[in-house]
Amino acid sequence: MNVLIIGAGGREYSIGMALKKDESVDNLYFAPGNGATDELGENLTISDFDELGDFCESNSIGLTIVGPEAPLVDGIVDRFEARGLTIFGPSAQASQLEGSKIFMKNFLARHSVPTAKYIETDSIEDAYRFINSLEAPIVVKADGLCGGKGVIIATSRDEAKKASAEMLSGSSFGDAGTSIVVEEFLDGYELSVFAICDGEDYVVLPAAQDHKRLLNDDLGPNTGGMGAYAPTPLVDDEIYRKLDERVIVPTLEGMRAEGMPFKGVLFIGVMVVDGEPIILEYNVRFGDPECEELMPLLKSPASELFYKAATGDLKNAKIEFHDKYAVGVVMASRDYPYKSSEPAQIIIDDIVHDDLEANSHISFAGVTRGDDDKLYATGGRVLVCVGMGDSIAEAQQRAYMLVGQVHFAGKQCRTDIAYQAL
Ligand code: AMP
Ligand code: GLY
Repeated sequence: MNVLIIGAGGREYSIGMALKKDESVDNLYFAPGNGATDELGENLTISDFDELGDFCESNSIGLTIVGPEAPLVDGIVDRFEARGLTIFGPSAQASQLEGSKIFMKNFLARHSVPTAKYIETDSIEDAYRFINSLEAPIVVKADGLCGGKGVIIATSRDEAKKASAEMLSGSSFGDAGTSIVVEEFLDGYELSVFAICDGEDYVVLPAAQDHKRLLNDDLGPNTGGMGAYAPTPLVDDEIYRKLDERVIVPTLEGMRAEGMPFKGVLFIGVMVVDGEPIILEYNVRFGDPECEELMPLLKSPASELFYKAATGDLKNAKIEFHDKYAVGVVMASRDYPYKSSEPAQIIIDDIVHDDLEANSHISFAGVTRGDDDKLYATGGRVLVCVGMGDSIAEAQQRAYMLVGQVHFAGKQCRTDIAYQAL
């Protein structure tokens, strides 16, 4: 089977690596891919959905996998399915679970899925009234997609009011913020849980933890994620059971009942408060960098998981995972997440250590191949060093040994990824 992957990040690179190992995959294509995905397959410069569909028809693409949320929200799945192409991801309608925080919160409320107490509003008076009823910290969220930046955790009522006023006036997030969600702050530990869904059935992947802040000890600004690990020992069978019963099953049933069955990755952002999983948010795609740790844990062929999910056949899949741990450390460019940095050549030392060679790898993200055929760091999050091991400590040690082999001017990374588990 030929497979097309939509996207350009480390997430898509890691999906590509998993498919590359899969004997039933022939040719791999990326649209647009990055400066390193051309080593796994062929990069395409097409982005128009109809032209991509034409490409799939003329190149016998048996499966398309969509990495990022934007093309999903824009309806790539609807367009591909209308012409009979097999594609892994939710419809535009189902993608509202990520595309609109108001849709998501109201959906959770309709189906009694536990989530933080909230209001949705476009009225400043309503926002102020609700803020006055809460104790700080208070969370204010823009309704629409804001590239992960539309959430303000205000440390006082005044700050929450200011954030609401700025969003509602359109000055902070434009149209994405002209409706907002204000909600209570949940104090607990955060998990990233992924369910691969085919509309009816689902497979839950090992639970992961992301590290969203730039600096060690979870300090500094929020980022797209500076590292992750899986499976996390912070999730026991009881939490998995609660997630199944209270979250995933009612969500999939609810989506079906509302005429938009969910097919693709349901990314469940969970806060565990006193042992109870409470939903922070849904995304309709893999997390990045969580995907980079989950893909190498997959023992079953990746194409089986994605193809069976895309074709409504997960009940006939037996998906297995390696009994191992993965830790991924993001190496970012100098000015991330504030601004872009000058391109810097990436130099990777030869790995002479057999143990490291066998149990670690790099997932490339913000990289470009120069005319000189060398790899340059050109994005914010440049690459992810992934270590595998029989324990989290072993996986972490290998990930950081690999970090030591990678050089580019201005590189930065956290040195404490997976600390919660150690
Ligand atoms: P979101 O984009 O909704 O995932 O929010 C980004 C981050 O803000 C989350 O990963 C949490 O760390 C934090 N966050 C969002 N909502 C809440 C909440 N109600 N209580 C505490 N933290 C939150
Ligand atoms: N790592 C979190 C996200 O992809 O949204």
